[in-house]
Amino acid sequence: MATVFVLANQKGGVGKTTSTYNLGVALADIGQKVLLVDLDPQGGLTYYAGFEPEEIGKTIYHCLTRNTKPRDILVSNDYGIDLLPANIDLSLAEFELVNAPARERRITRIVNEVRESYDFILLDSQPSLGLLTINALAAADEVIIPVSCEFLSIRGTRALLKLIAKVKGSLNSKLKIAGLLPTMFDTRTLHGRQILELLDTEFPRLYVFPHTVARSIRFAESARAQAPVFEAKIQVPGALAYRELARELVKGKTRISVFGRKVF
Ligand SMILES: Nc1ncnc2c1ncn2[C@@H]1O[C@H](COP(=O)(O)OP(=O)(O)OP(=O)(O)O)[C@@H](O)[C@H]1O
Ligand SMILES: [Mg+2]
Repeated sequence: MATVFVLANQKGGVGKTTSTYNLGVALADIGQKVLLVDLDPQGGLTYYAGFEPEEIGKTIYHCLTRNTKPRDILVSNDYGIDLLPANIDLSLAEFELVNAPARERRITRIVNEVRESYDFILLDSQPSLGLLTINALAAADEVIIPVSCEFLSIRGTRALLKLIAKVKGSLNSKLKIAGLLPTMFDTRTLHGRQILELLDTEFPRLYVFPHTVARSIRFAESARAQAPVFEAKIQVPGALAYRELARELVKGKTRISVFGRKVF
């Protein structure tokens, strides 16, 4: 039975999609059955996984608005990933669902249909706090919050925490925050280190994953090449953070405090 994680942060470009995909592949590499769900009309995750979003006929949009079964839109790739893809059609879903009954629980229903077949389901959300993100939070067991190591990212996190509290109060009382995942950490600057310290002081009650993802141009290159970052000929330091995170999630010890912080 899958544990469902949503990677959420309404700030754009903090590494949600990159983390969803590489964490998914890292989990698959250690024998886990993994389903990724693209909940962003930009279809970035779908592309990263090796598919052309605009060439896919049926997507998560059809599951959300036409009662299409998730198995009918499922695609798989050679890296052990199953994916419910998305494309620009998804941008219509929020509008079409405005007056629909139980509109916040559409993703929950979809996830429940396939949950038995997986160990991990990772939902990649779009950079907004709209209906699709609320759906994702309602469907998830735990939230992973990627935070890029820059000041503005911290402000965005506060708004997300408020939304999570609201969803917990109304739609999903069991929702937990797995932790903050620092991304795009620049080992050379003081600013990055200050942000890491600030995460601990600003959010003392939240777990900060010790596997800080270092900044590397290889991530952008890997997305363009539609290959996980582990495929790079030269080992990418940041990639190891996703392997460590995968191991940590499998051990299920996300909230056990870890001494010291490692940058990969
Ligand atoms: N550790 C990293 N180091 C350097 N660049 C990175 C890193 N992680 C991701 N990137 C790059 O930063 C950009 C944004 O990353 P990504 O698309 O994963 O963020 P996102 O939060 O999903 O964005 P959006 O909010 O638009 O969905 C991409 O070009 C990606 O390749
Ligand atoms: Mg994204």
